[in-house]
Parts: sequence; structure tokens; C-alpha cells
Amino acid sequence: MRLEGKRAVVTGAAGGIGSAIARGLADEGAAVACLDLHEAGVQEVAGSLSAVGARAWGWRCDVTDPADVDAAAARSVELMGGIDILCANAGGSQGEMIPFLDLDLDTFRRMIERNLTSVFLCCSAFGRQMAKDGGGAIVVTSSQLAEIVRPGMGHYAAAKGGVKQLVKAMAVDLSPVGIRVNAMAPGPTLTPGNKEMFERPEVREANLRTIPLGRIAEPDEMVGAVIYLASDEATFTTGATILVDGGYTIL
Ligand SMILES: NC(=O)c1ccc[n+]([C@@H]2O[C@H](COP(=O)([O-])OP(=O)(O)OC[C@H]3O[C@@H](n4cnc5c(N)ncnc54)[C@H](O)[C@@H]3O)[C@@H](O)[C@H]2O)c1
Repeated sequence: MRLEGKRAVVTGAAGGIGSAIARGLADEGAAVACLDLHEAGVQEVAGSLSAVGARAWGWRCDVTDPADVDAAAARSVELMGGIDILCANAGGSQGEMIPFLDLDLDTFRRMIERNLTSVFLCCSAFGRQMAKDGGGAIVVTSSQLAEIVRPGMGHYAAAKGGVKQLVKAMAVDLSPVGIRVNAMAPGPTLTPGNKEMFERPEVREANLRTIPLGRIAEPDEMVGAVIYLASDEATFTTGATILVDGGYTIL
């Protein structure tokens, strides 16, 4: 029970990696507020945690909407009495591969909003609350594409590259108020949303060629690094990105 008594918020908690993170935090003793655009999905995740004795809640929150995010921070404090851990995990590329010259401004903006602006908004709103409570830990879900680029993925890579620098900037600015800020960067990970894409033979083979561990990850494999970064085992770690990518970025 490495997170006994801690109060955590997970965004994108209805998704593959977010639901695994929420379960992992609850298994380590944390109370968990689960947020997602997908209301029924996030309520189901929170319900499944409550059913096994965890303190968990789930509600709809659009992490690109400042009013929604501010309201979620206030509600999290109301429900849990404070916030010790924020896992800013919502986002994703949604399988959009678009060659740069075909990329239009709206699509580019949406990608940046979903993956970078959302991290700014959540870390700002929840961070202000954590600062009042004496500090805590923020863990942002980044991507292997914060390090490397693949064809047609410029908009997603730009957003996640921005996340990497924002994490470092926040680590510097939030250390005086006792908040550590780190990132966990997954490599290709099987989720209900991308299963079909990863199962296409050409995508599967291309990924397997570029992943030294020779397979695509399961969401549960992302959780250990998040728990470590959120816990008191990582009290001297801030501004770091832990790659959990099966070696993808080595090649
Ligand atoms: N699965 C992978 O291969 C992979 C690889 C690298 C990084 N990631 C990152 O992992 C994180 C989780 O993605 P996943 O793979 O679990 O995908 P997913 O689609 O299963 O989950 C993403 C969740 O985020 C939610 N979401 C999206 N936009 C939102 C918004 N505006 N407000 C609130 N919730 C919103 C979705 O509803 C969904 O439940 C993302 O940040 C993604 O970029 C995933």
C-alpha cells in the first residue's frame, strides 16, 4: 500500500491506460477521482473500483474546457478533502496519420488542445489546489512520440514534445510549492480504441520490427512507473520522463 491515505485524480480514466492507472492507484490505497469525456465509461470504471472497496468517484469532464477543469478541481477537493496526486493522462492521437502538407489548422489545433493545452489546464487548476495543501505529485502521460517522429504524426509529436518541455518547466516552477512533476511515456499499447488498428498486419509488423521487446504493451504495464513517480519512493525525482516503450525509441 504505497499510496495509503493519498487523494488522486486521473484524467482519461475511461480509456485503456487511464483505467489501468486508476485501478493501480486504488490498489495501492489511494482514493481516486476519475474524469473523462466519456461519462458512462468513467462511471463504470469508478463503480468497479468502489465495488472492491476503494474510495472512487467518476464524472464527465472535458479537459480542454477551463470551466470544466476548474469545476472538477473544486469537486475533487469537496469529495476527498484535498488532492495529493494528479495523473494528467487524457489525450491520444486517435489514429490520425496526416502527411504534413495535408494537415489543416483546425486538425492541428484540436490535437494540441487535446494533448498539450489540456495538460496546461489540468496542472494549473489542480496544481493551485495542491500548492494550497502543501504539495504533491503530478504525473503526465506523454508518448514515445515526444522523443521521435513517425510519418504523418507531426501534430501529435509536436503536442507530446511540448508536454515534455512543459513537464520540465513545471518541475522548476512548482518545486518551491512542494509539487514534483514527471511524465510516463508509453510506447505502442493495446487499448480497446486502437485494437483494430494494431491488429492490421502491416501496422502490427511495422511496430514489431521497431520494438526490441518484440510486442505491443498491455495498459497494466504502464502503471508501475506512474505509481513510482506518484509515490514517496520518488521524492528526489522531478522533471523526468520515464519511457515505458519496450525499447521503441532506441532504434
Ligand atoms: N495507447 C498507446 O499506444 C499510447 C502510446 C503513447 C501514448 N499514449 C497516451 O496515453 C494516454 C491515454 O491514451 P490511451 O491509449 O489509454 O487511449 P484511450 O483512447 O483508450 O484513452 C484516452 C481517454 O482520454 C479521454 N479523453 C480524450 N479527450 C478528452 C477530453 N478532452 N477530456 C476528457 N477526456 C478526454 C477519452 O475519452 C479516453 O477515455 C494519452 O495521453 C495518449 O496520448 C498512448
